Amino acid sequence: MKIDFELNGKPTSVDVDGTTPLLWVIRDTLGFTGTKFGCGMAQCGCCTIHFNGMATRSCMLPIQAAKGAKITTIEGIAKDGKLHPVQQAWIEKDVAQCGYCQAGQVMTAVNLLERNSKPTDEEIERAMEGNICRCGTYHRIKDAVKHASELMNNQ
Ligand code: FES
Ligand code: FES
Repeated sequence: MKIDFELNGKPTSVDVDGTTPLLWVIRDTLGFTGTKFGCGMAQCGCCTIHFNGMATRSCMLPIQAAKGAKITTIEGIAKDGKLHPVQQAWIEKDVAQCGYCQAGQVMTAVNLLERNSKPTDEEIERAMEGNICRCGTYHRIKDAVKHASELMNNQ
């Protein structure tokens, strides 16, 4: 089945079984391996991408649902060689431990700040709570989201 969509701002076309999860098309067919596989059951948040502007888990979304969609992965959020403020904040706050969950965390945080540029502590906790980190980096994630908010509002 031929499916056309936009990936990281570029027209993209794949010819795959329509029931293939979007995650595997992104990683295996297209080679964007920044998005990770964790649970495969839409429970952990590792595979979070942006789908038509919303943070979305890609592990259970069939590629046939992506016809005409605008999809952004972790590889697509830096612009003109400049890191996204969330990526910058993640580095400055030294968030990652093993790093496995972090692409999903960053994509969820970017989407939160796109919708709400000055989230409260409670709003950050609510937005991020579905993204599991086995290394327990939750305090640094919260600090980094607040720092990213400052960076974005001072730009
Ligand atoms: S791999 Fe998709 S939510 Fe866990
Ligand atoms: S940094 Fe290791 S799972 Fe989150």
